[in-house]
Order: sequence, then C-alpha cells, then structure tokens
Amino acid sequence: MALMFLTETIQAYRERDPAARSKLEVVLCYPGLHAVGFHALGSFFWRRGAFTLGRFISHLGRFFTGIEIHPGARLGRRLIIDHGMGVVIGETAEIGDDVYIYHQVTLGGTSSAQGKRHPTIGNNVIIGAGAKVLGAIEIGEGARIGSNAVVVAAVPAGTTVVGIPARPVERQPHKPVFDAYGTPAEPCLDPLLQELGLLRKELMELENRMARIPQDYVI
Ligand SMILES: CC(C)(COP(=O)(O)OP(=O)(O)OC[C@H]1O[C@@H](n2cnc3c(N)ncnc32)[C@H](O)[C@@H]1OP(=O)(O)O)[C@@H](O)C(=O)NCCC(=O)NCCS
Repeated sequence: MALMFLTETIQAYRERDPAARSKLEVVLCYPGLHAVGFHALGSFFWRRGAFTLGRFISHLGRFFTGIEIHPGARLGRRLIIDHGMGVVIGETAEIGDDVYIYHQVTLGGTSSAQGKRHPTIGNNVIIGAGAKVLGAIEIGEGARIGSNAVVVAAVPAGTTVVGIPARPVERQPHKPVFDAYGTPAEPCLDPLLQELGLLRKELMELENRMARIPQDYVI
C-alpha cells in the first residue's frame, strides 16, 4: 500500500513538474517527496499514541527537508510540495488529493485553542509560493491561491484568490487542466492567430455566397 502511494506520488511529480526529468531524479532530489515519507512514518506512531516519537520523526523530516508537517495533519494522495523550503503544515490541517503546494506556504492556525484550527484543502488545489492559509477554513476543490496571498476566509471551489487579505480574481471559472504555475489555459490571444481566424471566417462566408449564386451567372 505504502509503495503504491509512493509510486503514484513520484509519477505525479513527473507529470506535473516540468523540471522533473526522471523518476530517479524525483526520488533523489525532491524534498517534498522525502517530507511526505517522513510524515507517513511519524503519523503512524503519533496515531498510535507515541506522540513524542511521532513529533521527533516529523522534526527529523524538517531537519532534512526544510518542510515541517505535524504528524497529526492528514495528507491526501499525490501531494506535491514543490521546492518545499519553509512549508509549515499544522496539526489539524487536512489536505485532499492532487494538491500542489509551493515553498514557504503555511497552513496555520489563528488561535491556540484545542480542536480543529487549521485549514481543510480540497482536491486539486494549487497554493502559490509564500501563501498563508490561516484558520479552520475550507478551500474548495480546484481553487488557486496566488503567491504571497494571505487567506483568512473560505474559498469557493474553482476560485482564484490573490492578495492580503485574499480576494477572488475577476475571471471565468477555473481551467480544466493543471498548469504547474497556476496560469490559465485560455484561448490563444496571439494577434496573428486571431487575424488568421478572421480571414478564415471571411473566406467561408465568401464560399457560401458563391455557392448560392445560380450556375447561369457563373462564367
Ligand atoms: C494567482 C495566480 C494563480 C493567477 O494566475 P492567472 O489566472 O494567470 O491570473 P493573472 O496573471 O491573469 O492575474 C489576474 C489578476 O490578479 C493579479 N495577480 C496575479 N497573481 C497575483 C498575486 N500572486 N498577488 C497579487 N495579485 C496577483 C494580476 O496582477 C491580475 O490583476 P489585474 O486583473 O488587476 O490586472 C498566479 O498569478 C499565481 O500566483 N500562481 C502561483 C505561481 C507560483 O507560486 N509559482 C512559484 C514557482 S517556483
């Protein structure tokens, strides 16, 4: 089971990070993958009541990767933590499947009260470098959080938010395909291609008009 999770996560790095050239490179050079491995081990002990051992393993993970994940946090499948340095994921954070997190992201709390105090991240969310997501808020499926945003309120599914405090960007719903840098997959806006499209349309109109002219008039 653990091997399957590992294999599919390595594959996810290969598919989603254009810089990942081989599986070996991912295994050797991706601290996000190592951090998730440390977390799996630390979490195993923490959930069985060995809290200090769980925390110690998490601490070792932080030492080696620069990524701090509390052993109590729940991580989904194929989580990518790209670059990784400075990422902090709190005790009651929950992360869905296929989430992509960049360096210096914090999934943190806003109070020292016990209980749920960290965010819940939906499937397919992208969290840009340096973003802070604070409190027991929900980030909806497919949402995108801009780099350096500070998110303190729930984000609806498919929404892009930026700024401090984070606000939705005025644009159409989220793109259907993943892009490593969170940029939209919109129709091409190249002026030459647009011009070509207009010419093609005019040509089709002319052809239609020609087809409607009675054959007697055609020389
Ligand atoms: C937020 C993000 C996903 C939006 O990308 P997008 O859909 O292409 O949006 P646009 O670039 O068209 O920007 C839309 C608006 O948001 C603003 N904006 C975009 N990213 C922003 C950010 N991080 N902070 C503040 N404003 C931002 C743009 O200036 C633009 O404003 P305008 O409408 O007033 O001109 C993207 O900018 C981002 O931050 N991705 C994360 C990338 C990252 O962390 N990379 C690390 C690689 S190591």
